[in-house]
Amino acid sequence: MKDDKEAVRERIGELTRQISHHDRRYYVDDSPEISDFEYDMLLKELSDLEARYPELVLPESPTSRVSGSPLDEFAQVEHMMHMLSLDNCYSHEELREFDKRVRRWLAVDAVEYIVEPKIDGLGIALLYKDGVLSRGATRGDGRIGEDVTSNVKTIRSIPLRLSSSSDIDSMEIRGEVYMPKDGFKLLNRKREEAGEQPFANPRNAAAGSIRQLDPKIAASRPLEAIFYTLSYSSEPTPDTQSACLETLRNAGLRTSPLTRVFRTIDEVIEHISSWESRRDDVEYEIDGMVVKVNSSEQQKRLGATAKNPRWAIAYKFPAKQMTTILLDILIQVGRTGALTPVAILEPVDIGGVTVSRATLHNEGEVARKKLMIGDRVLVERAGDVIPQVVKPIIEARTGGEKPFRMPILCPVCGSRIVREADEAVRRCDNASCSAQVKERLAHFCSRDAMDIDGVGPSLIDQLVDSGLVRDVAGLYVLTPEMLTTLEGVAEKSSRSIVEAIDASRTRRFDRLLFALGIRHVGSTTARDIASAFGSIEALMSASVEDLSKVRGIGEVVASSVRHFLDNPTNLALLERLKAAHLKTAVEEPDSGPLQGRTFLFTGELESMSRQEATVAVEALGGTVGSSVTKSTDFVVVGENPGSKAQKARKMNKHILSEEEFLAMLEGR
Ligand code: IVH
Repeated sequence: MKDDKEAVRERIGELTRQISHHDRRYYVDDSPEISDFEYDMLLKELSDLEARYPELVLPESPTSRVSGSPLDEFAQVEHMMHMLSLDNCYSHEELREFDKRVRRWLAVDAVEYIVEPKIDGLGIALLYKDGVLSRGATRGDGRIGEDVTSNVKTIRSIPLRLSSSSDIDSMEIRGEVYMPKDGFKLLNRKREEAGEQPFANPRNAAAGSIRQLDPKIAASRPLEAIFYTLSYSSEPTPDTQSACLETLRNAGLRTSPLTRVFRTIDEVIEHISSWESRRDDVEYEIDGMVVKVNSSEQQKRLGATAKNPRWAIAYKFPAKQMTTILLDILIQVGRTGALTPVAILEPVDIGGVTVSRATLHNEGEVARKKLMIGDRVLVERAGDVIPQVVKPIIEARTGGEKPFRMPILCPVCGSRIVREADEAVRRCDNASCSAQVKERLAHFCSRDAMDIDGVGPSLIDQLVDSGLVRDVAGLYVLTPEMLTTLEGVAEKSSRSIVEAIDASRTRRFDRLLFALGIRHVGSTTARDIASAFGSIEALMSASVEDLSKVRGIGEVVASSVRHFLDNPTNLALLERLKAAHLKTAVEEPDSGPLQGRTFLFTGELESMSRQEATVAVEALGGTVGSSVTKSTDFVVVGENPGSKAQKARKMNKHILSEEEFLAMLEGR
């Protein structure tokens, strides 16, 4: 019996080590060695064993990442050493002055500097004791911070035990917790869909997430961390900052790959200038570059003032926030009639981009932010998202500002505006409102829907305003002659537009379902519905209950689909789409040699258009995705590929050249 338990103890140790190794390969090194499935199997075996032998659970167990229970409040913790802040500067001149000060203080001619990106997140201090992560704390006031250990543990790239290749037992390190721009955009979209207040920028999102009392919420947020300071170590600290970073990396911690060492301030300045234009290329927000004296001994000699070290300075990039005047608030009518207030701004340059409009998300946001028309407002362009109005500058009010009121009638068609009991948004009640029709058409023609090239916003405006098209089925009766009656549409382009519309008749049933723009039905849901019911007829006779039985579909989606199908106008529309020979049923299952394979295209193909390639893959039973995901099997890389090619390589996807792809189509 005892032997059994010893064997379990050993296995638990082995699994804990293996999982932590694979976490590092995946989250820190970006090069996984095993599949997600194999990883899940290891994790499952471990959690099963731990459930049976709770006394054998190791403190650094990966299952402890999300197992903390909600707290009432955060405990306060005193930092081992004060967390200082950085002195800021905004010009090259100030950098030269910093260099002069440093050299004078040290009485040397030349100093070696290390330049690091200044990550726009929030400072964090981690403590490792006997190699195990024992505490994570926010910066707080620099002396006392908040104990956010259970939230820090949910960040997968942070090791729960230092790597065995590191000989350090205990250390205190500092770094930045942040939210990557992609994750931020997705999180905000989800929050808006759920009627929650979106975050103004990735920094606020990261700060709000790490300060969640319930670690399960923190775990659901896409947080990351990068470390830059070794503030205490049980081993002698290295001679330079670059060697400290190396030590952190060896211990299994993520550091920035963008750090560089220079011998003169001129080189530093040149490097920083080159980053000013490239800051948007980084997957997270950087608000500047930090210049640090590289030598640890020189750092010690320079010391610190009460607030800042004398051996470092932050060069700040132009702010992505500016103030301007809120000239007006217009109402945009969306595809489902939802009314969205949009801020019309006095044009202002924010980080090199002229901004004259900003989203206000919804009526509730305008009220929450207490915005008035005529206000001076703080506007932010962050995380590559649509500019946002952060807040009004109340002190700048003159008394001439006017309150904002939602209209009573649709500003586009003059129809009644309704607000359903359980909803925050108001909607225009008229399904044939031209604004709604235009938005529905735009969605129908979009890349992931029917992918109709050449039918963009301005043509849609003309088609609807001229009365040529009243709904999406109207596209399929257009002729080149009808199109040439529109201003600026030449004969040649009229033919290619009709051809593009024609080509869309072969799109799969699930894409048509998605293209219809049924509320709450995204492309994944459309795919699930299509494969569950197989045809439009079967779908039409499905009850809310039948629909709710489909994997991934809840009550809300089910009712929304039923609601759409119960509307006589929609039924008539579906009939006309069917008559136009669009695909209203799933094609023969398991036909074609590419059945079950998902392709992704990036870059241009020489021999065919993206659309032709998609049709070719679909004709052989395959599917085509729009981003690299777990389910992507092949990534076809053409000329001038985008970032997807890079991502595919990182994720070890099977990459095909155009030639290889053609060979595959031909069955070679
Ligand atoms: S060094 C005493 N390096 O910026 C040294 N800080 O504005 C202080 N930050 O509190 C930290 N990237 O939260 C350092 N590469 C970097 C950084 C960085 C972001 C943050 C940090 C600090 C704040 C100061």
